[in-house]
Amino acid sequence: MTKKTGILTAGSDCPGINATIRGFGKAAKLNFDMELVGFKDGFRGLISNQIIDLSGDSLSNVLTAGGTILGTSREVPHMVKGGAEVVDKTQDAVAVYKEHNLDGLVCIGGTETQEAALYLQKAGLNVITLPKSADNDVPLTDVTIGFDTATDIATEAIDRLHSTASSNHRIIIIEIMGREVGWLTLGAGIAAGADVILIPEIPYQIEIVASAIKDRQSSGKNFSIVAVAEGAYSAELEAFFNRSIKINRNVHYEESAESGDEKMTQLKKRYSGETLLLANRLEEATGIESRITILGHLLRGGSPSASDRVLATQLGTRAASLVDSGEFGVMVAFQNGETVCVPLGEVVAADKRVPMDHPWIIGARQVGTILGD
Ligand code: F6P
Repeated sequence: MTKKTGILTAGSDCPGINATIRGFGKAAKLNFDMELVGFKDGFRGLISNQIIDLSGDSLSNVLTAGGTILGTSREVPHMVKGGAEVVDKTQDAVAVYKEHNLDGLVCIGGTETQEAALYLQKAGLNVITLPKSADNDVPLTDVTIGFDTATDIATEAIDRLHSTASSNHRIIIIEIMGREVGWLTLGAGIAAGADVILIPEIPYQIEIVASAIKDRQSSGKNFSIVAVAEGAYSAELEAFFNRSIKINRNVHYEESAESGDEKMTQLKKRYSGETLLLANRLEEATGIESRITILGHLLRGGSPSASDRVLATQLGTRAASLVDSGEFGVMVAFQNGETVCVPLGEVVAADKRVPMDHPWIIGARQVGTILGD
């Protein structure tokens, strides 16, 4: 009997999402004779039953295209924001799924999508997810769709900044996306030979960074490139957050203290915006003129790299086989060169910060890169 599967893309976009939709969709139609229902703008389209036609040639000519043909949003069914209110619309999603007589739902997205999918699975839907993220922050997969392309873009940007920094004898600070994890900054920083790499996992000491830049100057290198993740922060700020958490604990009791802790931790996780301050302080401490470049959403635009297209095709086609064989409640991940299934509960419970003993950290230190600690 023909199976009917829903598909949506949620969270922020990145290169390789269309290649994933195509990988899944073509395998689903050609090999398993499935019928597809595309939902518009992520979970928002699922809740409100907004459909995109995926029949005919709709999956041709999308392999190389950036963005997502389905559209996306950060909306998740269990927490829909309507003004000041937050409403649980899980049952709306369940109703639409039933209305279309779906046998399964494929969700392509980042960490928030994995969590939303787990909620839907608990509500009784057959769900499979695929990990995409320019930041590479989805746990239990070695790599996410979009990460390789973003690393290439950031690497090329740092390469280009080298010549201008060197000619003008400046410090150039390049801010790279990554609020909670530093994979992208670390990978591109290593690939392009940044002199300093600052990531959220290592709170940095301004004095250490300034002194390394001054040492470079003394050895005749009159410029420095600093690659900084948007979520990196100084050890001073880390101490400030820790103090605030303690003070909060002392003035509140039990439940409210715990929710205060949680709010503070979320604030710290979401913190970004230190780059301007970092530039000013480095200029002050070294006497070297400083400039900033913020790559922002450039990292998420345009055509996917060859690696991302291959990864997207592998993960997408594997997801189609899983739907056909009725295996749900998992994320299709990439581990040690193979596609594997990881239970959604495990994905949501884990995190993917750069470990301090990771070979990239060790390698960066061994070539003399300053990591700010
Ligand atoms: O989560 C991926 C990411 O690109 C982060 O690195 C960045 O902080 C965030 O998305 C930006 O989100 P938005 O596109 O919603 O502004």
